[in-house]
Amino acid sequence: MIMRKRIVAGNWKMNMEIGSARELARSVCNDLATRADLGLGKGKEVVLFPPYLFLPEVVEICREFVGIHAGAQNCHQEGKGAYTGEIAASMIKSVGATHTLIGHSERRSYFGEDDELLAKKTKAAMENDLTPVFCCGELLPEREANNHFEVVKSQLVNGLFWLEEVAFRHVVIAYEPVWAIGTGVTASPEQAQEMHAFIRGLVKEQYSEEVAENLTILYGGSCNAKNAKELFSNPDVDGGLIGGASLKAHDFLQIIEAL
Ligand code: PGA
Repeated sequence: MIMRKRIVAGNWKMNMEIGSARELARSVCNDLATRADLGLGKGKEVVLFPPYLFLPEVVEICREFVGIHAGAQNCHQEGKGAYTGEIAASMIKSVGATHTLIGHSERRSYFGEDDELLAKKTKAAMENDLTPVFCCGELLPEREANNHFEVVKSQLVNGLFWLEEVAFRHVVIAYEPVWAIGTGVTASPEQAQEMHAFIRGLVKEQYSEEVAENLTILYGGSCNAKNAKELFSNPDVDGGLIGGASLKAHDFLQIIEAL
């Protein structure tokens, strides 16, 4: 039986302060609470990814709403210890968060996170019962050189495919072509569908058709209220990871309506 979840996630990145973060979380939750028609909690979910500092508060705000969760934008690979300034997966779990992003392209490029490290972070997330939202995607020159499938394949093989099937079933993948992130240039619905179908095919080969069919694959990169519907209507696009457009409740709600 196919139980593929559809998800809209908001990646707030390094934006806002406690007051505006609280206001945004409340506004999203309160608006969604009046929208039983959206089917949240019935195979559809919203996940907010605020900066670490605001995570406990956002968790508390989301707690009473069905189908709305909160997660971290990153986690450290070690369980605990002398890693000044870092946050462990167990800490994220302990404040009631349910998800963590792993390997966002900004982590890969600005903080030098490579596949080997991301495999460890994925392990840490799974051991602490957090759903990893594992990000992959090619750079513009890689697409121009027609290398995008190979790049995404190697990110998935090295970062994720070492997982046993029981663990892999809990993973969410976000395909985010780097050239589309924060640029206003979105992948066309065809480009998104093509890559999502490719990813599902890889998962089928590695695990099984049933695992592949149940996997949630999100699209990210300049997804907004205008283009969400067309992107989400593709058979292998199960929702979106939204950056800029998740910072305004009204825009974010319109994207959720498109799910
Ligand atoms: P964007 O960011 O929607 O602002 O392009 C997406 C992301 O980085 O997750």
